[in-house]
Amino acid sequence: MKFSGELAMPMLGVVLLGTPLLSGAQQTDPATGLIKAEGWETVRNNCTACHSADLVTQNSGTRNHWENLIRWMQDTQGLWEFQAETEETILDYLSSNYGPKEDTRRPALPRTLMPDNPYPTVTGSD
Ligand code: HEC
Repeated sequence: MKFSGELAMPMLGVVLLGTPLLSGAQQTDPATGLIKAEGWETVRNNCTACHSADLVTQNSGTRNHWENLIRWMQDTQGLWEFQAETEETILDYLSSNYGPKEDTRRPALPRTLMPDNPYPTVTGSD
């Protein structure tokens, strides 16, 4: 909270949520910022105990990405095991509401479109 400008954001949120025209399609929970879609409460209950929900809402990726993150937290950060059903709900929610951002990153160029490598390469044969 070093910048006084940060205070404007929560207030803006309140104004926007209070405006029916703008709150239409996607509602977010004012306390956590999580998109209010099916399963969001399960995610709130299981994913905001150790860190802010911002870590969740600022991340995005495939179902596989989210599953890997959960495994990483379970292996190294003390995250508990989920019942299979709970994990399904969490992964469904995360992958559909915080899925891969398709247009923020272009896919890698195919090899055939890459310029020739200007550097000598080590072939191991000479
Ligand atoms: C038991 C504690 C705990 C719980 C519960 C927890 N996390 Fe985490 N999570 C962590 C820790 C510790 C970090 C690393 C925080 C940091 O780097 O500041 C982390 C980091 C993250 C990150 C950032 C990873 C990165 O690459 O920077 C995401 C995203 C995340 N958690 C999502 C979740 C989700 C989704 C859930 C619910 C399924 C969850 N967390 C529940 C402990 C937890």
